[in-house]
Formats: sequence, structure tokens, C-alpha cells
Amino acid sequence: MVEGTRIASVEDVPEVGSYLFTAEDAFTNEREVILVRCETEPGIEAWINNCTHENQRLDRGSGAAMRDGEIICPKHGSMFDSCSGECDNGEAAGTTLPGVEIAVEDDGVFLSDDNYTFLRVGGVEDDGGPDSTSHIGF
Ligand code: FES
Repeated sequence: MVEGTRIASVEDVPEVGSYLFTAEDAFTNEREVILVRCETEPGIEAWINNCTHENQRLDRGSGAAMRDGEIICPKHGSMFDSCSGECDNGEAAGTTLPGVEIAVEDDGVFLSDDNYTFLRVGGVEDDGGPDSTSHIGF
């Protein structure tokens, strides 16, 4: 039995690209997180969907750009290792993406990080604003 909320099936995470979801952090901020494939166990890692250089989303809603196991920042092109989150090139050199703890079991990916609560698949809904006629009721 896995502790945590199921985020996705393993097969939902693309071989190249990323699977985007939104979680709430300990300060009740909504944070976007990406699931990416990685060669080392357990085969999938989760990173906060923001470049460490500037406030730039890595996955802008249609999957992060990836090449040879690295996530490519769309703004200045720094590349982050999908397994370690580390960057050794470009503007973000010397930094590491903040990670989010997940568990991969059977065919599922679970959010096991005590600092985050799973909210929804997809990104932060930031294009509506307070006056938007959201279909979400409270
Ligand atoms: S914003 Fe990502 S490398 Fe500059």
C-alpha cells in the first residue's frame, strides 16, 4: 500500500516531455510540478515547474522540452538533468531544481511529499483572475 495521492499512471508520463500537475505547498500556495522520465530508478522524478534562473515555467502547458535526459528551459536554454535536477550550463549553471517526493508503484505515480497536497492535473489556473466566471463552485 502506497502512502500518498495517486497523480497519474506511469504510462501517462511521456518518454519525452513532461506531465504537469498542481499541488498546494505548506504555505497554501499553488505550485506547478512536472513528472519527467529518468533513467535511474524509479524511472520518474518530480520537479517544481520553474527555472532556477528566472521565473520561467519549464512546461508551459504542453510538456517541457527535453533532449537526452535533460529538461531545457525555454527562456535561455539551460538544461537540467531529469534525474538529479542539476544544471551545469548556461544562465542557471550551478543550481538544482527543487524536487518533490513521489513514489512509483505498480503502474501508478503517487505524491508522497508531506509538504505538498495534490490539487489537480494540469497547471495553476492563472488566466482567469478574480472576476473570471469560473465553472468551479465552492
Ligand atoms: S530563465 Fe531559465 S535559463 Fe534563464
